[in-house]
Amino acid sequence: MKLATRMSRLGTETAFEALARAKVLEAQGRSIVFLGIGEPDFDTPEHIVNAGKAALESGFTHYTPSPGITAVREIIAADMGARLGFEANPNNVIITPGGKPIMFFTILALAEAGDEVIYPNPGFPIYESMIRFAGATPVPMQLHEERRYNPDPDELLSLVTPRTKLIIVNSPNNPCGSVMPEEDLQKIAELANEVDAVVLSDEIYKDFYYEGEHVSITKFPGMRERTVVLDGLSKSYAMTGWRVGYGLFPDELVEPISRLVTNSVSCTAAFSQVAAAAAIEAPQESVRSMVAEFKRRRDIIVTGLNEIPGITCPVPKGAFYAFPNISGLGLSSQEFEARLLDEAGVSTLSGTSFGEFGQGYARFSFANSQENLHEALRRIREWVTTL
Ligand SMILES: Cc1ncc(COP(=O)(O)O)c(C=O)c1O
Repeated sequence: MKLATRMSRLGTETAFEALARAKVLEAQGRSIVFLGIGEPDFDTPEHIVNAGKAALESGFTHYTPSPGITAVREIIAADMGARLGFEANPNNVIITPGGKPIMFFTILALAEAGDEVIYPNPGFPIYESMIRFAGATPVPMQLHEERRYNPDPDELLSLVTPRTKLIIVNSPNNPCGSVMPEEDLQKIAELANEVDAVVLSDEIYKDFYYEGEHVSITKFPGMRERTVVLDGLSKSYAMTGWRVGYGLFPDELVEPISRLVTNSVSCTAAFSQVAAAAAIEAPQESVRSMVAEFKRRRDIIVTGLNEIPGITCPVPKGAFYAFPNISGLGLSSQEFEARLLDEAGVSTLSGTSFGEFGQGYARFSFANSQENLHEALRRIREWVTTL
């Protein structure tokens, strides 16, 4: 069978393959500590599950309008508005099955051959994949370890051209756990205004802060009109399997993105939307206690990694990933990932799963129990002595 040429441009998210490999080893009887996949290990809080069940029982089993149920869009808009500090219009909110379609549809709607799209590297691998799939040119914005995994402002200046159609920012960042300083966001805002580029601000980790508070690029002049804010429930409410994400779009994008939803998935599952509304409206205690636990885990993994010869690990300010420099071990990132899994039974992801600037690094998701993090560290300590 001959696939369409465009398929050769479509990448993937290797986290799913790495998980499958580790699961095979586990099925063969090996003990594996899973620090690869990026999802909270907590269950969806009970009040949200109950809201989903009640929605199913009361008939939320049908199609909904493509951009989402009006009442749910209103609840999301009120929540986003309160956080972002301006009145968000519910008509500008589009609900999708997870946050991923927001980046997929935004890139498809805006970028084509001849356009340049700036994206963080190391960064979420779907950005680059989708930019290439759309036929546009990916322009990596390197995140530097020396800058706590943030871009260099002078370098950034050289990346922006009249062809820049879209600039993607992701703070807190996957895989680095970095948080963009306000002055860097401001610089990007100024550049976007200068060349009339749209900004896709992926704020899916907005609740995962261990220091400081979330700042959105929408706060800078001219940005509300040119920013797509991507958000969702997968991480904050441990709802990865419910598939609910959403975007706040500038006016001109609402109809085209809704049309993409109609053409692809029709709508997001009705009961998931109702459960999402319940999650947002309820007291946020479950989010706070989950983040507090992640902070304890962060401290364990970062301290432990820094005690291992050949590994240095900056302290992540947000998200739930540590991104240590492993170049002192004399292995490539890919060798590190493969050998750590095979020889020590610890599943992680190579830095290069997140782009070429991830060489020399690895991503450790600390979405696992304190006990398992201690066990992983014990195994790694022992394993490095065999290298
Ligand atoms: C940076 C980033 N954006 C978006 C997503 C998409 O999440 P989902 O589609 O599961 O809601 C993820 C998930 O890993 C992510 O890490």
